[in-house]
Amino acid sequence: MKGVVLAGGLGTRMYPLTKVTNKHLLPIYNMPMIYYPIQTLVNAGIDEILIVTGGNSAGDFLRLLGNGKEFGLRHINYTYQEGEGGIAAALSLAEYFSDNDKLVVILGDNVIERNICSAVESFRAQKDGARILLKEVPDPQRFGVPVFADEKIVRIDEKPSAPASNYAVIGIYMYDHRVFDFIKTLKPSERGELEITDVNNFYIREGKIAWDILEGWWTDAGTFDSLQYASNMVAKTGANKL
Ligand code: DAU
Repeated sequence: MKGVVLAGGLGTRMYPLTKVTNKHLLPIYNMPMIYYPIQTLVNAGIDEILIVTGGNSAGDFLRLLGNGKEFGLRHINYTYQEGEGGIAAALSLAEYFSDNDKLVVILGDNVIERNICSAVESFRAQKDGARILLKEVPDPQRFGVPVFADEKIVRIDEKPSAPASNYAVIGIYMYDHRVFDFIKTLKPSERGELEITDVNNFYIREGKIAWDILEGWWTDAGTFDSLQYASNMVAKTGANKL
C-alpha cells in the first residue's frame, strides 16, 4: 500500500498568509503543517509516499523534507499540480506512482490526535473498493457529509446547507486502483473543481465503500479559525499519537 499527501491548490482562502508561501508550510504549533499528514501515513506503516504540491514555494517542500529522513523514510516522491483543479485533480497526478497498488490519500491540511492504524489494516484486508473515515462535528456544513439509510451510507453531500447527519467525511481516503478510472469521468463542480466527494459517490453507488469512525480529535487547518484550533489542540494534547 502506498501513500499520497495532497498539498496542491493555491490556498486563496487564507490570503494574505498564502500570498508568498504555501499553505502547507504554515506552522501548526511547533511544526510545518505538512509534517502532520506525513507522520499520519508513516505511523500507519506506509513508507512509499508521494507529495502532490502546487502553488507558491513548491521548491521549499524539497528543502524542508528532502528524502524524509526526519520521518524515518529513505525516499519521498514529489509531483506538481498546476492551478487548483480540485482534490480529485490533484489525486489524478498519482496514477503513475500508484502502479495499480492500493492507496491511502491524506489532505495536506488534515491533522489527527491519534492514528489510522486499524482502518489501514482493515483496508489491507479489504478485497477492493474504498474506505473512508468519519468524525462527528459541530459544523458539518463545512465538509463532505454522509447520508445514512439503514445504517448504510447512501450518498455523500459536499458542503450541504442542510446536513443530513452530524458527521464529516474527513480528508483521509483509501482507494483501489479504479479510483483513476472514476476521476477520468468527473466533471467540474459549481466551484470549478473535480470533487473527491464525487469519487466517493462512485464507490457508494457500486456498493464498494467501507467506513470507520476516527478516534481522537480531527481538524482541517484550511481556514484562519481551524488553523488556530489545530495549533491549540496540538499544543494541548499532541498529535499523531500511537
Ligand atoms: O478536510 C476534509 C474536507 O476536505 C472534506 O470533508 C471535503 O469533502 C473535501 O472536499 C475537502 O474540503 P475543503 O473544501 O476543505 O478542501 P480544500 O479545498 O480546502 O482542500 C483541502 C486540501 O486538499 C488542501 O489543503 C490541499 C488539497 N488540494 C485542494 C485543492 C482544491 C489539492 O491538493 N489541490 C487542489 O486543487
